[in-house]
Amino acid sequence: MTAQPLGLPWSANATRGADGAVRVAGVHVRDLAAQQGTPAYVLDEADFRARARDLRGAFERAFGEIGAGVDVYYAGKAFLSVAVARWAHEEGLRVDTSTGGELAVALRAGVPGEHLGLHGNNKSDAEIARALEAGVGRIIVDSFGEIERVGAAVRARGAGAPPAPVMVRVTTGVHAGGHEYISTAHEDQKFGLSVAARTGGDDPVSPAMAALEEILRRPELRLLGIHSHIGSQILDPAGFAVAAASVLGLRADLAARTGYLVPEVDLGGGFGIAYLPGEVPLDTGRIATEIAAAVDSACAALGTPVPRLSFEPGRAVVGPTTLTLYTVGTVKPVRLDDGSERLYVSVDGGMSDNIRPALYGAHYHAAVVSRTGSADTVLARVVGKHCESGDIVVHQVQLPADVAPGDLLAVAATGAYGRSMASNYNHVPRPPVVAVADGATRVLVRRETEDDLLALDLG
Ligand code: LLP
Repeated sequence: MTAQPLGLPWSANATRGADGAVRVAGVHVRDLAAQQGTPAYVLDEADFRARARDLRGAFERAFGEIGAGVDVYYAGKAFLSVAVARWAHEEGLRVDTSTGGELAVALRAGVPGEHLGLHGNNKSDAEIARALEAGVGRIIVDSFGEIERVGAAVRARGAGAPPAPVMVRVTTGVHAGGHEYISTAHEDQKFGLSVAARTGGDDPVSPAMAALEEILRRPELRLLGIHSHIGSQILDPAGFAVAAASVLGLRADLAARTGYLVPEVDLGGGFGIAYLPGEVPLDTGRIATEIAAAVDSACAALGTPVPRLSFEPGRAVVGPTTLTLYTVGTVKPVRLDDGSERLYVSVDGGMSDNIRPALYGAHYHAAVVSRTGSADTVLARVVGKHCESGDIVVHQVQLPADVAPGDLLAVAATGAYGRSMASNYNHVPRPPVVAVADGATRVLVRRETEDDLLALDLG
């Protein structure tokens, strides 16, 4: 038997070999565990690069057909390390950062400032100054106070400092995605300025319009465009078209009021992936074509030329590329109220390396990867080693009935918001991120140690 691809939700180069064990990009999981220890995030580099290329290619083709330019930004919040930022850059993506820390990583990777964006609803003056210093291509402003502060930061750089390129983050009322907390375009939330609400006064306009006009009045700011992000883990592209029409309408209204047509529109990220077998991810070709068609027809109806577009996928680039490799410890059958049984399989990590099940009720898929298990399966719940019962990694999954301590168990599609949201709960050091490619292993982020944690403790 030759190696069989595992298929989604596993990464593209994950295969099961003749011995029943899994390899990622040709690297045997037992070798990975022996060399790197567990838990470990194992990142399939070629898959990351291919996804970055595919997304860029799909958007370039679709928007090329309507005569528009397009940039794809990798949303670093999903997972950022110096190597990953460099890969994104090498594959022609720009990098979207949302804090000074993410900006520092992208700059360390050598991503040129003009290929970086800075987000955040509460940027510090230091973050703004650093972004200007780095010459970032865009600061996405999120409030009136910030318009004032970015202006002040430019003035503080002295006469002759170039104006700051800014976009305004707006909320269109469209929200989409897998879970309410990860939808960011509700009206009743902290992000953006509303397109719909009206300010008071003689000339009531929306907060979004008022912000755009305020920026146009300030010589220290250069109004680059309008930004909308409608949510995350979106599996239905319809919301993007509605948001695009709203943003393009705002752009046309601004042009009618001021004569200034903003050159760019960013429609954010949020493209959904498969977490479970059988789940169908958002098809990149389809999403690009549908959004391009929506942009084209909205602009035609408004009588405005098509702007340059940009997108900010994070999860769709990195999510499927990574599995978390754990070692099975305690295995405990628990009888349920209805008389059935569930096998609690404890692994050597948990909510500190993947908070998403506990925080969002997110579902994941797991498999025993170090061997072929028995043909019989049991209903299992994969849990961590933390001191609370909500420490669940996989709510339910069929595992081989003979799953036993010492087996290696992998959880699929943990690349996005796994390591990036990891914590040290219970003083558990965070796992390493290990890249695999062409049979070789490279540690991108090393394992934290107890000494790392104790180094912060001043006694
Ligand atoms: N752009 C902006 C402005 C965003 O706020 C986000 C995500 C993205 C891009 C990237 O979205 P993506 O393509 O990765 O879905 N921690 C949550 C997700 C929070 C998303 C926040 N914003 C989770 O684990 O599901």
